[in-house]
Amino acid sequence: MGLFGSSRSGAGSPLWLYTSAVVVGIAGFVGFRQGAVDYFFSETHCYQSVRTHSAAEPYVNCFTVTPSGTFSKVFRSDPDSSLAKSAQPGHVIPGLWDGHGHLLQYGEFLNSVDLFGSSSFDQVRTRVKDYLAENSGSGTKQEWIRGVGWDQMALGHMPTAADLLEDSALKDLYIMLDRVDVHCIWVSQAVLDLLPESLPDVPGGEIVREPGMGVFCDNAMDVVMDIWPKPDSKKQQRFVKSAMSKLNEYGLVGMHDAGVTPGNLKLFRELAGTDDWSIRVYAMIECDERNTFCGDAVEKFVHPDGFLSIRSVKLFADGALGSWGSAMLEPYSDRPDTTGSLLINATELTRVASAWAKDGYQVNIHAIGDLANRNAIDSMTSALELVCPDHSLSECQSQRRFRIEHSQIIHPDDQRRMHSIGIIPSIQPTHATSDMAYAEKRLGKERTDSEAYRMRSLLYIRPVLGSDFPVEPSDPFQGIYAAVTRKNPHTGRGTDDSPDGWQTQESLSLDQAIRGFSEGPAFAGFMEGKAGAIRKGAFADWVVLETLLEETDIEDFRSLKVKETWVGGRRVYKRN
Ligand SMILES: *[C@@H]1O[C@H](CO)[C@@H](O)[C@H](O)[C@H]1NC(C)=O
Ligand SMILES: [Zn+2]
Repeated sequence: MGLFGSSRSGAGSPLWLYTSAVVVGIAGFVGFRQGAVDYFFSETHCYQSVRTHSAAEPYVNCFTVTPSGTFSKVFRSDPDSSLAKSAQPGHVIPGLWDGHGHLLQYGEFLNSVDLFGSSSFDQVRTRVKDYLAENSGSGTKQEWIRGVGWDQMALGHMPTAADLLEDSALKDLYIMLDRVDVHCIWVSQAVLDLLPESLPDVPGGEIVREPGMGVFCDNAMDVVMDIWPKPDSKKQQRFVKSAMSKLNEYGLVGMHDAGVTPGNLKLFRELAGTDDWSIRVYAMIECDERNTFCGDAVEKFVHPDGFLSIRSVKLFADGALGSWGSAMLEPYSDRPDTTGSLLINATELTRVASAWAKDGYQVNIHAIGDLANRNAIDSMTSALELVCPDHSLSECQSQRRFRIEHSQIIHPDDQRRMHSIGIIPSIQPTHATSDMAYAEKRLGKERTDSEAYRMRSLLYIRPVLGSDFPVEPSDPFQGIYAAVTRKNPHTGRGTDDSPDGWQTQESLSLDQAIRGFSEGPAFAGFMEGKAGAIRKGAFADWVVLETLLEETDIEDFRSLKVKETWVGGRRVYKRN
């Protein structure tokens, strides 16, 4: 059963509430022995309630934090004690983690055109112009305008460069806009003019030629990315800073970065532990050339205070469902001519995964379609057999913790294989509620019911929950809402404006969802006992909320605001 099991008791009425204010102070002097200094300068914080994620004592009301930023004592104070009487208002939960996001891209997104929810070409052009008004001088050959969030289904047709030319204010500007799933980019005529006249097709990608040029998908995005003037490290540093402070606002203390190039990892190592680095990062290596082995260009690294870990790699089996890019065992129901496409064949995926596993890395594979998931499991199985010839697959996997990023559409046979080996599903609950509008069209009813967007049926192994920001909003409470209700957090609705959730047999309980945003990423990031829980020896990361989550109406999670966020004993966010 483990951490997500139902062995915990009294979940419905976990608390005793203290309503009075304040305390904290210096714990006291204990003499000149080792640890005395730490002890002397430790601070004790008491609140109305503290959710710990410990089975023995799920709720307490006080903890003590060492100057080095770890919990040294987690305890329940006597209700009549002065500590309890002077407790701070607020309810504490362990600091939250996003198990799959993209830090630099998020920072870039915060500094670019937000196209999410745009429903017409006019709207897109207006938003680009608004951005231009606030960022005059952008859109040059040296500094392209970036944006993200368009969706051809909302816009009416696949965009083209000509659609941007329609407004003379945008003529001659260098513009590159990511599709909502970041698997395609849409560029302006000025960018197209930098490319050779005739572009050959790209394996594992698509250069969209109808109704006109302008969009490049999956591997074909490299055609444009190769000539895009990349932000320099000073700008990237700004992206990191704005991303981290935004994430702190949502109660996040850590994230798994699902793809960082060796060059960017160098920057991360320089910044990790500095004052602005207020989010713990578990970074997956993404080679400059996707789906290759680049172990010579990187070094394993685990920051002593837990601010950066580099011990895993990200590989990509296929593309996204929205653009029929995910690789399926059977043709799409709404496009019987195609089964999508693999970005790498099964033999090669096994070869690359094995090379990383042999070098001691955790292997994390992006897989959306049921063929991609099958190949991912096959390659992980081979890699595990290679690195642990004397152990069972599940014993080996419990050490290596390979995971499938997205785990979106999985054949029932393969769900059973994941279960028996213990391969970790890394799931984004808001992907399910964003895709639900068209998933059944793509997949048909039977595949949808038996394979798609599982959550509860993958609970046997602690799932990792995340958002895939900036693809989806980074607010973990929206993710928790989507996991519990299987409704879209923006609208509060299911499919076709229904008040009911979608495929609710796969929903999670509130407790399971919170743990998926804390303990799940901790385990999958080799930080169990150190993150995702409030216990002695763990990093002192916590979030203060106004209300007790168990007593909060689930609809209020859609707009829930955090009061304070603390990382390593330091307050990194306080709401005014
Ligand atoms: C798989 O891909 C590799 C590398 O692109 C290629 O050399 C190999 O021939 C492919 N194998 C199959 C069976 O297509
Ligand atoms: Zn991602």
